[in-house]
Amino acid sequence: TMKIAVIGGGSSYTPELMEGIINHKDSLPVTEVVLIDIPEGQEKVSINTAFAKRMAEKAGLPISVRYTLDRREGLKDASFVIAQIRVGGLDAREKDERIPLKYDVIGQETTGPGGFFKALRTIPVMLSICRDMEEVCKDAWLINFTNPSGIITEAILKNTKVKCIGLCNVSINMRYDAAERLSVSPDELDCRFIGLNHLSVMNHAYYQGKDRILDAVSVENTESVVKNIQKDAEMDAVAKELGCLLSPYMQYFYTEKEALQHEKMEAIGLTGTRAAQVKEVEKNLFECYKDINLREKPAALAKRGGARYSMAAICLIDSIYNDTNDVQVVDVFNNGIIPQLPDDVVIEVNCRIGRNGAAPLASDVPASVLGLIGQVKAYEEYTIEAAITGDRNKALIALLNNPLIHDVRDAKGILNELLEAHRAYLPAF
Ligand code: NAD
Ligand code: G6P
Ligand code: MN
Ligand code: MN
Repeated sequence: TMKIAVIGGGSSYTPELMEGIINHKDSLPVTEVVLIDIPEGQEKVSINTAFAKRMAEKAGLPISVRYTLDRREGLKDASFVIAQIRVGGLDAREKDERIPLKYDVIGQETTGPGGFFKALRTIPVMLSICRDMEEVCKDAWLINFTNPSGIITEAILKNTKVKCIGLCNVSINMRYDAAERLSVSPDELDCRFIGLNHLSVMNHAYYQGKDRILDAVSVENTESVVKNIQKDAEMDAVAKELGCLLSPYMQYFYTEKEALQHEKMEAIGLTGTRAAQVKEVEKNLFECYKDINLREKPAALAKRGGARYSMAAICLIDSIYNDTNDVQVVDVFNNGIIPQLPDDVVIEVNCRIGRNGAAPLASDVPASVLGLIGQVKAYEEYTIEAAITGDRNKALIALLNNPLIHDVRDAKGILNELLEAHRAYLPAF
C-alpha cells in the first residue's frame, strides 16, 4: 500500500497531480490519496475529491480518495506528502503584487518583495506542518511546491528533520523550449541547470552526446516558457549574449523597467494583477471540476503557470520509490556544488534521484550569473531568519539585499505597508 497526502488539496492543480498518479499506475502502486486543507478551502477540496474519484474510476484504479481538515490525521503514515499551500490565498497575493508598484518596485508572487512576504507568511506554517510530519509520518518524503519553493525548502531543511525536496515546473518547461528551438525530441535532450529556484540557467543541452546549448540560444522563441509571464523579446538576446537559456523569472532582473511598466498597466487595467487573473481562471476551473460528467483534466488548466507540474512531482516520487537513479532538476542543499555558497543553502540543480533522495551532480556556474545568484541567496537567507524570528531589522536587511529594491526608503515603505496588510498572517511580527 502507498499513501500520498496532499497539503493544500483544494488547489486547482490537484487534478493535474491525480493525472500524474494515474499515468504512473504501472510503476507506482498508490492505494490512498488524502487531500488536506483548511476550512477556507473546504469547498474547493471537496470538489477536487469528487473529481479525483471520478478520474480514478475512469482509469479503473482502486485508489481511495478522501479529504480531511484534520492535518495530523491526514498525514498519518503517508509515504509521500506533496505541499502546495497558499497562506492568505489569492487576496494576499494580490497585495504582494500591488503594493510594491506604488514604490516603482516589481510586484510579483515569488521574485522581489512579493515573494519576500509570501515567504514570511508561509515559513511558519510549513515548519508547523513539518513538526506534525516528524511525529505522524517521520519517514515520509515531503515534495514541496509551495512558493517561494527554494526559500521554503531551505527553511525546512535547516530547521526540521523532514526529508524535503523542493520542486518547480520551470526546468521541465525550459527543456521543452530548448527542444523546440533545436527541433529535437525533449526526451532526448539532456539539459543541465544551475542556480536558485526561479533564478536558474540552462548552461548545457546535450543531444546525442554533443552540447547544443549555443545552437539553442541562437534560435529565438517568442513563446513564454510559463503562462504567467509575458515574455520580453529582449530576453532571447540576453540568453544569446550569456550563452545560456534563462529562467523566465530572470526577466524581472534584466528587463526590470519594461516588466514594471507592464505590471502597472495590468494593475490599473481591466485584467488586474496576475492574482486577479488567476481568480477568474480558477472560478471557471472549479465550475468545470463540479461537472459530474467530467473525468479528465480540462484544457483551461493550461491557463495557469504550472504546466507540467504533475510531471515533475510524480516523476520524482516514482524515482524515489523505485530507486531508479535517473536525473531530475530539483531544489536541494548546495553541499559544495556552487563553491562560492555555503553548503547548507538550497540551490536548484540536476540531481540523481533514488531511494535516498536527491544527490546533486557536479556543475559549473557561469561567471556571468554568479554575482546575481550570490546576491539573491543573501536576500533569501535574511528572509528565512526574518520569518523565523519576526525581527524587523532582519526583514529590512533582507529587502536591502534584494536586487529589485534600489532605495532604503522604498524598502522601509514596502516593509511597513505589507507588514500591516498581512498582519493576520504574520504572528511573529
Ligand atoms: P491556492 O490558492 O489554490 O491554494 C491551495 C490550497 O491551499 C487552498 O485550497 C488553500 O485553502 C490551501 N491552504 C492555505 N493554507 C493552508 C494550510 N495552512 N494548510 C493546508 N492548506 C492550506 O494556490 P495555488 O495557486 O494552487 O498554488 C498553491 C501553491 O503552489 C502556491 O504556493 C504556489 O505558489 C505554488 N506553486 C508552485 C509551483 C512551482 O513551480 N513550485 C507551481 C505552481 C504553484
Ligand atoms: C510557474 C512557476 C510557479 C508559479 C506559477 C504561477 O509555473 O514555476 O512557481 O507558482 O508559475 O502560476 P499562476 O497561474 O498562479 O500565475
Ligand atoms: Mn516555480
Ligand atoms: Mn539595484
